[in-house]
Amino acid sequence: MPNSIESASNTVDPFAPWALKGLWLRNRFIKAATFEGHCPGGRPHREGLAGFHEAFAKGGVGLCTLAYGAVEPGGRTFDDQMCLKDDILDDLRYVTDAIHRHGAKASIQLAHCGGSSKWSGWIGQRARGPSNGFNGLGMFVGTPLARALGLNELPKLADDYRVSAERAVAAGFDAVELHMGHGYLLSQFLSPAVNKRRDEFGGPLENRARFPLQVIRAVREGVGGSVPIVVKMNLRDGFRGGLEIEDSVAFAKLLEANEADALVLTGGFTSKSAMYLFRGPTFVHELIKAQRRKIDKLVYRMAAPTMKSLPFEELYFLDLAKQVMAAVDLPLICIGGVQSLASVRRALAEGFQAVQLGRALIHDPALAQHYAEGSKTESGCTVCNRCVAEMDRDGVRCVLNDALPARSPS
Ligand SMILES: Cc1cc2nc3c(=O)[nH]c(=O)nc-3n(C[C@H](O)[C@H](O)[C@H](O)COP(=O)(O)O)c2cc1C
Ligand code: SF4
Repeated sequence: MPNSIESASNTVDPFAPWALKGLWLRNRFIKAATFEGHCPGGRPHREGLAGFHEAFAKGGVGLCTLAYGAVEPGGRTFDDQMCLKDDILDDLRYVTDAIHRHGAKASIQLAHCGGSSKWSGWIGQRARGPSNGFNGLGMFVGTPLARALGLNELPKLADDYRVSAERAVAAGFDAVELHMGHGYLLSQFLSPAVNKRRDEFGGPLENRARFPLQVIRAVREGVGGSVPIVVKMNLRDGFRGGLEIEDSVAFAKLLEANEADALVLTGGFTSKSAMYLFRGPTFVHELIKAQRRKIDKLVYRMAAPTMKSLPFEELYFLDLAKQVMAAVDLPLICIGGVQSLASVRRALAEGFQAVQLGRALIHDPALAQHYAEGSKTESGCTVCNRCVAEMDRDGVRCVLNDALPARSPS
């Protein structure tokens, strides 16, 4: 029976253990994927990255998600992101050991930014996405255009996901999160505004979903039968012409039939509607200030119209998510403005199996513990969004406190 709102009236204890496809988690609090900014030059900074995640594990979350793990060098948005290669597996093992030491489980987000990249490796070439198009991020770094991936390139790319997933398990991760939202490569394939292909990978949803589904099957091959695959997918892209809820519901059903073990229901498209993802005040001015090079400041100044403030409310994806909930039986994970214990309880009462927290945990990495002890019922995060710009300074942290480590010199 699909997850129905009516059937979920029994109270779920957020602090009790539960199993995600056989992976036991000590509670229903999951640290969301928030790019850490602790990979200078693309290499994980061991102490910085481990210290960052250790804070959440020590602070009581059940599952901690590392972000983001590019599946090939060209899948990086910029140079300071890691690529899941063999030569960093020891560094990642150091991080997963740190997470496990404190009783939490570890997950890693597998991602590719597609045609939206300012990775220096693309200089003189074109970033690759589903279709030819403009690459706003790469405008002043020598890659202002993206080109359509050729049919002959897709199997290799799906295999990059498979190999990366295999390496993640080898590095000690207990689960993987496949990024299919926020305007990254697989989200670009799903979005009718960006995917203009005329072959079997473009057009109706069935075709736009073809490559993302090939990828998830490849990831299953990589992780094996027992490791959970969590998919982060958009409910809406949040701009006219983008993916809408009818297609998302249909896509969720396809994922249910194709190896997904849980869905994180999000929205927004980084290059076109970034604030739909976060809500609240724009952080573009902070982002401009954080850039060291004039040219990067200019890139973000030009992106400002796509980053206009949007009103914030708690559980801002809840209403849309209910439409997916009514259609699938998969465990669903609530994300987006889970700022108070009341919101955690409400999300679980509505039928979600767990909650993912981004900003609330960046502000207070020990929030799950504080909720459990009763010493807090609200996160204390003001949703100012300034932490997002910190990834381009010394690593993601809350500007109101020092709860997370700053990046040490590499
Ligand atoms: C600093 C920061 C970095 C983020 N990086 C990522 C990322 O790498 N991958 C991703 O899927 N989402 C990323 N997000 C979005 C969060 O995972 C989440 O979807 C969003 O913040 C809404 O959840 P919240 O209200 O709990 O913060 C990031 C968010 C923040 C604040
Ligand atoms: S900087 Fe701190 S208070 Fe502001 S949104 Fe980020 S975590 Fe919340």
